[in-house]
Amino acid sequence: MPLQIDLKDKVALITGITSGIGAAIAKVFAKAGAHVTGCGRHEASSQEAVRFVNRVNDFKQKALYLQADVTVADDLQKLVQQTIDKFGRIDILISNAGANVFEGAANCDEEHWQQNMELNLASHWRLAKLCKPYLEKNNGVIIVMTSNHAYSSIPGCFPYNVTKTALTGLVRSLAIEWGPTIRTVGIAPGFIDTPGNQNWFDSFPDAAKERQRTIDLHPVKKIGSPEEVGAWCVFLASEYASFASGVTYLLDGGRSALMQDE
Ligand SMILES: NC(=O)c1ccc[n+]([C@@H]2O[C@H](COP(=O)([O-])OP(=O)(O)OC[C@H]3O[C@@H](n4cnc5c(N)ncnc54)[C@H](O)[C@@H]3O)[C@@H](O)[C@H]2O)c1
Repeated sequence: MPLQIDLKDKVALITGITSGIGAAIAKVFAKAGAHVTGCGRHEASSQEAVRFVNRVNDFKQKALYLQADVTVADDLQKLVQQTIDKFGRIDILISNAGANVFEGAANCDEEHWQQNMELNLASHWRLAKLCKPYLEKNNGVIIVMTSNHAYSSIPGCFPYNVTKTALTGLVRSLAIEWGPTIRTVGIAPGFIDTPGNQNWFDSFPDAAKERQRTIDLHPVKKIGSPEEVGAWCVFLASEYASFASGVTYLLDGGRSALMQDE
C-alpha cells in the first residue's frame, strides 16, 4: 500500500497565504484533506484571498480567510477565535507570515529594527501562545517558517537574519516546554521560486541569466518550489513525523554545503 498522508478532519491555521510559500502551503494542506484558516494583509474581497478560498474548496475542504496583521495583538486574537467559531478546533499552526527587512547593520534604524522584531519574531511567539490551549487538546503541531538566513547570511540582510536565527530558539523553547502534547518544528527554506524572488531576478538587466546563475549555485541545480515547502509542512504535521521536534530543517538544495562558489 502506498504511503499516504491523510489530514482528514484536521484544521490548519496558516498565516501569510495570499502569496508565495503560504499560498502553496494552504493548497497542499487542502490536498492532504485539512480544512484551512488563512490570513494575509489583503482584504477578503481581493483576488488573492478569493484564490485561496477557491483553491481549498477545489479539494473539497472548507476555507476561512481573515484579513489580519500578525503584528497587531487584536488581529491575532480574532484570527484564533474566528477559527474556533467556524471549525471548533486547531490541529496545526503554520506560522509563515514574514517579510524581508534588509537594511544592513550600520544603516538599520530603530523603527526598522522594531518592525522586524514584531513581524519576524514576536508575532510567531504571540500567535503560538494563543493557539496553545487548542493545540494541546489535539496533540497539535506548530511549524515556524524561518530562513536559511538563520544559518548563514550575506551583507545587507540585517536585521532579518537576526530574527530568523532567533526563531530557531523559539522552536527549541516551545518544543521542550510544550511537548509532548505539542510538537514544534521549524523550516528554513533557501532560495524558493516566489514572486519576491522573481522581482529580485527582474531587477537585473538579464533576469533569465541571473536565474540560471542562481540555479547553478545549487548542487541540486534548481531552486525550490513553494509546493515543495508545503509538502514538507504536511509531512512534519503528520504522524509520520512524530519523532520530529525542537529542530529547524534547512531546505536549501545543498546550497549551504558548498564552501566556496567557483
Ligand atoms: N521566498 C523565499 O525564498 C524564502 C526563503 C526563506 C524564508 N522565507 C520565509 O517564508 C515566509 C513567506 O515568504 P514568501 O517569500 O512567500 O513571502 P511573500 O511576500 O510572497 O508572502 C508573504 C505573505 O505574508 C503576508 N504578510 C506579510 N506581512 C504580514 C503581516 N504583518 N500580517 C499578516 N500577513 C503578513 C503577506 O500578506 C503574504 O501573504 C516568510 O516568513 C519568509 O521570511 C522565504
